[in-house]
Amino acid sequence: MNPITQTQALDVPSAIIQRRSIKSFKPDPISPELLQKLVELTVAAPSSYNLQDWRIVIVQDETQKSALSAAAFNQQQIIQAPVTFVFAAEPHGERDLTTILEQGLATGAWNEQVVNYFKTAVPQFQAGLGDKRREYAIKDAMIAATHLVLAAESLGLSTNFMNGWMEDKVKEVIGAADSDLAIAVLVPVGYAAQPRLNPGRLPLSANVFVDRISQPYQN
Ligand SMILES: Cc1cc2nc3c(=O)[nH]c(=O)nc-3n(C[C@H](O)[C@H](O)[C@H](O)COP(=O)(O)O)c2cc1C
Repeated sequence: MNPITQTQALDVPSAIIQRRSIKSFKPDPISPELLQKLVELTVAAPSSYNLQDWRIVIVQDETQKSALSAAAFNQQQIIQAPVTFVFAAEPHGERDLTTILEQGLATGAWNEQVVNYFKTAVPQFQAGLGDKRREYAIKDAMIAATHLVLAAESLGLSTNFMNGWMEDKVKEVIGAADSDLAIAVLVPVGYAAQPRLNPGRLPLSANVFVDRISQPYQN
């Protein structure tokens, strides 16, 4: 299947099975319409209290891509792929809480009681997290990144989750050097220039359990 002419989106199980970490990309650009679709599917991800504390930077400028690659130990995927999504997380983010609560009320997803509860519960919960705030914000950003990866695969593109980078350097590149922003993951997105080779997985009994960690799942 030629990914550029793929018009029928893959269903979720097919996208999950087909997805591979792609390290080599064609120079073909992603159309603005497709990019917008990817962004919308990415932020459709759930987040703790719907706070959406991810901060996503779409790096596509050639100079920015070079700087980002340098911050990622010169990994070439970033140079080759037309776009790299930088998933960052705002550990202290609750600045949009009012808008989030109003929206939930307006859509009918949350009633007055829930909204009033969240008004106090969310800041309390955030404060109670202490050192774990960063971890929680990163969880949300990682879930959004996973949405991107599967959406991209479904729409004929390929991706690579990337953890190999220096946080302070990545922050510098995206103009966040002096902020509390935590970098979660980098995801280059583009059209694969290599076959999707599957490195395989351990047997289910190695890391899936039933009820207790002592009872391996048997399929
Ligand atoms: C959180 C995370 C970080 C990763 N970081 C890198 C990376 O920096 N560079 C890279 O080439 N691959 C990276 N990978 C890709 C893994 O090597 C790859 O997912 C794994 O070998 C399984 O292959 P598959 O994705 O094709 O199933 C990362 C994957 C994950 C999930």
